[in-house]
Amino acid sequence: MLSWDEFDEDETTLTQPAAAAPTQATAEMSLEKLDSVGDAAAHDARAVVAEDSDAIARAKAALNDLDVQEGLEELEGTSARVRVDEKRMINCRADLNQLVPFKYDWAWQKYLDGCANHWMPQEVSMTTDIALWKSQDGLTEDERRIIKRNLGFFSTADSLVANNLVLATYRLITNPECRQYILRQAFEEAIHTHAYQYIIESLGMDEGEIFNMYHEIPSVAKKASWGLKYTRSISDPTFNTGTVETDKQFLKNLIAYYCVLEGVFFYCGFTQILSMGRRNKMTGTAEQFQYILRDESMHLNFGIDMINQIKIENPHLWDADMKDEATQMILQGTQLEIEYARDTMPRGVLGMNAAMMEDYLKFIANRRLMQIGLKEEYPGTTNPFPWMSEMMDLKKEKNFFETRVIEYQTGGALSWD
Ligand SMILES: [Fe+2]
Ligand SMILES: [Fe+2]
Repeated sequence: MLSWDEFDEDETTLTQPAAAAPTQATAEMSLEKLDSVGDAAAHDARAVVAEDSDAIARAKAALNDLDVQEGLEELEGTSARVRVDEKRMINCRADLNQLVPFKYDWAWQKYLDGCANHWMPQEVSMTTDIALWKSQDGLTEDERRIIKRNLGFFSTADSLVANNLVLATYRLITNPECRQYILRQAFEEAIHTHAYQYIIESLGMDEGEIFNMYHEIPSVAKKASWGLKYTRSISDPTFNTGTVETDKQFLKNLIAYYCVLEGVFFYCGFTQILSMGRRNKMTGTAEQFQYILRDESMHLNFGIDMINQIKIENPHLWDADMKDEATQMILQGTQLEIEYARDTMPRGVLGMNAAMMEDYLKFIANRRLMQIGLKEEYPGTTNPFPWMSEMMDLKKEKNFFETRVIEYQTGGALSWD
C-alpha cells in the first residue's frame, strides 16, 4: 500500500504532466524553449500547449450536444417545480426526484423510524443456541422440526419480498417519500435474509436442505408459489399501471405482499420461535426473530397506509369485485398458513398446538381485513397469544429475553447529552 512518505516531492512535480504529454513536433519545440524557466512555470506551459487526446475531445463534444431538459423530461415526466397537490401514489406525472415538499408524512416518518431501529445479525450472540442445538437432549424432535421449517420458509420468503419490492413495487409507486421507505425496507429484507443465513451457518445446519425447502416441503412451497404468482404478473418490464385493469393488478400485488406474505405468512413462524425464546430455548435465534418481527410490523403498517392511500386517490378501483378479490386473497393466505401450522406442529409443543394457532391466524386475518376497510370473516375469534402483541409494540429499553438493549439508536438519532 502507498503512503505519502514514499513520494519524493520533486519527482511528483516532474511526473505530473505526463497524462497530457504533447506528441506533436510543435509541442516538443515549445518544451525545449521552456527548459530554461523554473519547474512550476514549465508545468503550466505544458498544460497550455497540450492538445486534447481523441478520447477527451469526444467526451467534450458529447457534453456540448447534451440537451439537459430533454434528458430530464424523458426520465421523469416534467422538470417543473413540484406542488404537494400534484403528488400521487400511482400514475403521478410530477418529478420523482424532488423529495420535498412531503405529501405523505407517514412514509417519511417510517423511513426515520426504520433507520433509528437499525440492527445487524452479528450483534446477537449465538453461543448458547449452538450448544443447545448440538446437545443430544436439549431439544425435542418437534422443536427441531419447528426451527428447521421456519428457517426454510423465512430464508426464501424474505428474498421473495425483496425481489418483489425491487423488481415490481418500486417502479410502480410514483412517490419519492414512499420510494425512500421502500429502499430502506429493501435493505431490511437483505438484513433478514442475512440473519437466517447467519443462524443456519452458526448452527452448522445442512444449507442445501434448508434453502431448498421452498420447493421440497409442500407446506412451505405452497406459500412461496402463492406469492410468486403475484410478482410474476407485474415484474415484466413492459407492465405499467394507468388503466383500471393494470391499476387493480398492482393493488393486488400490494395486498398479496404486505397483507398476506408479510401480514399472515410470517405469523405462525414468529409465534413459534418467540415462544421458544420465552421458554429460554434458542434465545439468540429468538432475539433475531424479535428484531425481524419489529421491522416486519412496520413494513406491514407502511403497506396498509399505501393501499389505503391508493384507495382514497382512486376510489373507482375499490369496487365490489376488487373487495371480493382482496377478501379472497387474505382468506386463501390464512388457509395456507393454517396448513403450515398443522405441518410444523403435528403434536402440541411449546405450550401451543395447531388448533390454537388456527384461532390466532383467524384473529390476524380479521385484523388484516379490517385494516384495509373490509369486514371480518371470523367474527368472535379471540387472540390466544396476547404476548405476541406485546412483542410487536415493544418500545422498552431491554429486549424480551434480556440479552441486550433492544432499542438502541444509531447515527443522527444519538443524543450527546
Ligand atoms: Fe423481512
Ligand atoms: Fe418485510
